[in-house]
Amino acid sequence: MTTAPPEGQTTRRGAFSSRRVFILAAIGSAVGLGNIWRFPYVAYENGGGAFLLPYLVALLTAGLPFLFLDYALGHRHRGSAPLAFARQSRPTEFIGWWQVGICFVIAVYYAAVIAYALRYTFFSVDKAWGEEPEGFFFGDFLQVGDPGVTTEVVLGVIVPLALVWAAVLLIMGLGVQRGIGATSVVFIPVLVVAFGFLVVRSLFLPGAADGLDALFSPDWGALADASVWAAAFGQIFFSLSIGFGIMITYASYVGRRTDMTGSGFVVGFANSGFELLAGIGVFAALGFMAQASGGDIDTVVADGIGLAFVAFPAIISEAAGGSLIGVLFFGSLVIAGLTSLVSVLEVVVSAVRDKFELHRLTAVAVVGLPAAVISLALFSTTSGLYVLDIVDYFINRFGILVVAVVSMVVLAWFVRALPGLAAHLNRHGSIRLGTLWIALVAVVAPVALTFVLARDFLATIEEPYEGYPAWMLNTFGWGAAALVLVFAVGASFLRWHSSVSMRPGGPEEPTEPVAPGATAVEPGDHRGEVR
Ligand code: ALA
Repeated sequence: MTTAPPEGQTTRRGAFSSRRVFILAAIGSAVGLGNIWRFPYVAYENGGGAFLLPYLVALLTAGLPFLFLDYALGHRHRGSAPLAFARQSRPTEFIGWWQVGICFVIAVYYAAVIAYALRYTFFSVDKAWGEEPEGFFFGDFLQVGDPGVTTEVVLGVIVPLALVWAAVLLIMGLGVQRGIGATSVVFIPVLVVAFGFLVVRSLFLPGAADGLDALFSPDWGALADASVWAAAFGQIFFSLSIGFGIMITYASYVGRRTDMTGSGFVVGFANSGFELLAGIGVFAALGFMAQASGGDIDTVVADGIGLAFVAFPAIISEAAGGSLIGVLFFGSLVIAGLTSLVSVLEVVVSAVRDKFELHRLTAVAVVGLPAAVISLALFSTTSGLYVLDIVDYFINRFGILVVAVVSMVVLAWFVRALPGLAAHLNRHGSIRLGTLWIALVAVVAPVALTFVLARDFLATIEEPYEGYPAWMLNTFGWGAAALVLVFAVGASFLRWHSSVSMRPGGPEEPTEPVAPGATAVEPGDHRGEVR
């Protein structure tokens, strides 16, 4: 029996207590604002029905295969993203830091959307949006002006945003099992119930069928548009929490004998199921709003990024017991967002801990405080939504998707790591990875993504995104994506703490057999203890 002090006061990496907790934490990470806030507006901006086909293709050809790649790296090498890459092959460490940088950028804007949801939890009590959910969101609540950057702080955003950061830092300080794992175990079931109720209610709104028609009628013409494909791949990666180190990090906290492939399917399908439910709810609301205004589905909402904050209030206003549902829904959205934000930030925290051998609380402070300050400075002003829109668009495509291509190409063709990684997962996995997986990761996904990204890159250069001023796109879009890469290369030149083993597979395996039922937390899970 170990008598080690709690994780927060030591250099132990921490671990999930069981496969069930890992699956719930992975679903907690995957299911987040990406499913409920992001998916509906990305689908809406990319042709609605046109979007579902590329989305499914992206899920099956790149999403699930890449999820297994992340799992294999983290689970085999028992480290944060940079450490897992470094143990796989030293020169690839920068890819891990690239992912760490992307997570930092995502975390600072992600928190702002959670803050919106927190505020909407209270707005739901008296349906503060009245008859005008759209005007309320952009005007009364966010006080959005013309594109540009202002220093005018919105009190209604900065207060909940500060609370969100306080909650995140608290959860992270509690550690992997007591903080991250426990939060997911409690709140994911609550989210499922509240959300399910709301979506079912939306189906009974007058006009809902027209909305669903718009979501489920394929528009074959849009398939020729590279931007729709880039959006679909970007959404899958963001939503599944892959390509930015989260699943590598979480997999490093799982017992060595866990069935990772079976777990991956559960996580992948739970995540997409949630996403489709959100799409159904929002499009049903759009159908309802179109019928009420006598307009067209395409014209009922002016701006996509606020879609969830316009559509769900419209349902809540109509539903019997709407206030309660609203509180439950936006409250659960806060929770879904928090469990994801924690996972995004955990990538940075665990990387910094691994590199410098820091105690958890020190690492949480070193990473979390600057992130909170940047987040508050950029996103609590009247221009916050514009910056958020630009960063989200660019970091997904020219951050997550680019690093995904680079990692697949490097691991498959330069390091030739795929057969070894497949064999690792196959040892305890219920679904065998073979030639098909290798072909998808080594050829199909990188080729498809490169093609899509190249076309999308040219299109984004030719036509500035959403007509924003060039300086804003250069700073918060291209600038942020480039800065992350420069940071990654720089960080990979810093020395690892002398006690960190670079041995592939992590520290020595214990030689004694592990007792049945004790597979989740094994001695090898606590690197600090065996050093
Ligand atoms: N996967 C997380 C989400 O969908 C980041 O919100």
